[in-house]
Amino acid sequence: MNKPSLAQFFIGEQQRGNVSTVEMAPLLEDIATACKEIALAINQGALQGTMGSLDAQNVQGETQKQLDVICNDIFIAANSKRGNIAGMVSEELEQFYTVPHQSVSGEKYLLLFDPLDGSSNVNVNISVGTIFSVLRCPTGAPHPQPKDFLQAGKQQICAGYALYGTSTILVFTTGHGVNGFTLDIETNTFFLTHPNMQIAADTNEFAINMSNYRFWQAPMQRYIDECLEGKAGAHGKDFNMRWVASMVAEIHRILVRGGVFMYPIDSRAKSQGGKLRLLYEANPMSFIVGQAGGASSTGYQDIMDVTPTTLHQRVGVIMGSKNEVIRAVSYHSSKH
Ligand code: AHG
Ligand code: MN
Ligand code: MN
Repeated sequence: MNKPSLAQFFIGEQQRGNVSTVEMAPLLEDIATACKEIALAINQGALQGTMGSLDAQNVQGETQKQLDVICNDIFIAANSKRGNIAGMVSEELEQFYTVPHQSVSGEKYLLLFDPLDGSSNVNVNISVGTIFSVLRCPTGAPHPQPKDFLQAGKQQICAGYALYGTSTILVFTTGHGVNGFTLDIETNTFFLTHPNMQIAADTNEFAINMSNYRFWQAPMQRYIDECLEGKAGAHGKDFNMRWVASMVAEIHRILVRGGVFMYPIDSRAKSQGGKLRLLYEANPMSFIVGQAGGASSTGYQDIMDVTPTTLHQRVGVIMGSKNEVIRAVSYHSSKH
């Protein structure tokens, strides 16, 4: 195989002078290790008897799956050893986590993550994922404060996801484009299979949970109505629809063949701002989508411009192929 391994890719990035990738390389190596362990835990779930739900609810008020907690523990352990991460925020932890044994010197980072995205799919053998975002720890101190995590998405220095699908794929950006690596299970090594991923500006495929139609705001209903009208409608083209119910799988599909993904604010989720979480779902995916030439918005502002006020804050999400995002967003500002 003449594809570079993840380690060889980092050497290449050094030669290309992409300093942010070089800076993130050790951290990304640890994340890659975590994702390999998570892939194995998911793969073994039915055999190990870990596919069930727990009695517990997470801070989102959602019933936790056993694997939500297992994947959370794996991610924390694998990323705590090197000592360069000061604190972590996870979907599965109400409060942020302070890493106990940190190195005494060097830049410190904050790691924000959704350890198991799409966990309702895990026991029906449909793709799930892990999403992560990296921020600088502003204080540089061993004890980050909650406010240190409340940075807008444009402050991210790295973001990525692992998709546990027909193969395990790790996709990330450090601000130098988007690259995807497939896990070779024979050698337990990631190889670069999806260099410089780009999202086509135009698409005729949308992803939304249509069963929520009656709860959406009028601009989103109008956008989808027009998609459904096909060639005869305002878009002038027929649309196809997909809904996996794993954001990672949807965004990966969009990176590979285009599309627009929406989880808009709706009347049930209005008071909480939407369904998807800003810090560890919407922001990292926005960074990736933007680096691949796509766009992302809450409907009212660019996702990465939102100033967070709480760790588990939620937002409306419209992201993917640029021209469709622009069209959907324009309806939110339109008076007609
Ligand atoms: P999680 O499993 O981490 O809670 O995330 C699930 C999210 C997202 O991945 C997906 O797009 C959406 O929830 C699915 O929601 P519905 O079940 O409402 O369609
Ligand atoms: Mn999720
Ligand atoms: Mn999750």
